[in-house]
Amino acid sequence: MSTHPPLPQSRELADTQVVEVTERRAQHRRYLMCRPEHFTVSYRINPWMEPGRPTDTAKALRQWQDLHDTYVRLGHEVELIDPVPGLPDMVYTANGGFVIDGRALGVKFRVPERRGEERPFMDWFAAHGVDVIEPVEVQEGEGDFLLVGDTILAGTGFRSVGDSHREVADVFAREVISLRLIDPRFYHLDTAIAVLDPVEGPSGVDRANIAYLPTAFDDRARAVLAERFPDAIAVSDSDGAVFGLNTASDGRNVIVSPRAVGFIDQLRDRGYIPVPVDLSELLLGGGGIKCCTLELRG
Ligand code: ARG
Repeated sequence: MSTHPPLPQSRELADTQVVEVTERRAQHRRYLMCRPEHFTVSYRINPWMEPGRPTDTAKALRQWQDLHDTYVRLGHEVELIDPVPGLPDMVYTANGGFVIDGRALGVKFRVPERRGEERPFMDWFAAHGVDVIEPVEVQEGEGDFLLVGDTILAGTGFRSVGDSHREVADVFAREVISLRLIDPRFYHLDTAIAVLDPVEGPSGVDRANIAYLPTAFDDRARAVLAERFPDAIAVSDSDGAVFGLNTASDGRNVIVSPRAVGFIDQLRDRGYIPVPVDLSELLLGGGGIKCCTLELRG
């Protein structure tokens, strides 16, 4: 049985006229963010991080504030978790867990440097009415798990282990597609795939849509993506290399790095509205827009 809402009148006429690309609809989002008050690069757990290179915490805070204010301006809700001194990567809240249907699978980091974040995130969920499931297998939350329609795309290769894909499938009773990452610069799935519109519409109309960086994946993952997402936007290596895929989208507005110029054009061609926000300082830690954003799905 279909759970889709009735189609608007104009679409019922589809067989008598050419259907234009419909206006994309913004969907309400609720996000969890963390002010980068303690942001610095004091260790190296991905190729972007160079502890010898100075970071500018005030600049990171200004750029982060711009992202925060952009979400609010677009009508989204932003919740905040208190930053903890000594946990400089806590600003990357995407790794804090994975939340669907008001239930959170907590994070269990591969990297020891970030294990101190696990409890604060789980405590935040519990204190805000989200059921918390303690994780068994190693995985790094929404950094490696992305929801598209009713399917979870799950990354492995650098951080989250394959067994966590089985666990996330069990916990949320959803289909999981495992995808192997092969380029150390794109060590989390959200650096190589952007979910532009997670809504699965009637076939051919408003189809769920993603963008991805083909060279970040092994052959098998590339074949699966091509088969499952024939309408996906393939992003160039140069746009990928500036973290162009690390975006947040509400289905209409796509918050994207201003440096991903080719991807910005591709988004416009598909009817999305690119909203550039520069997080260059946070890229020194190997993170971007999506990394600083955890979706709270009620
Ligand atoms: N320094 C952090 C790490 O390597 C950056 C995390 C980026 N987060 C993300 N969702 N891709 O863990």
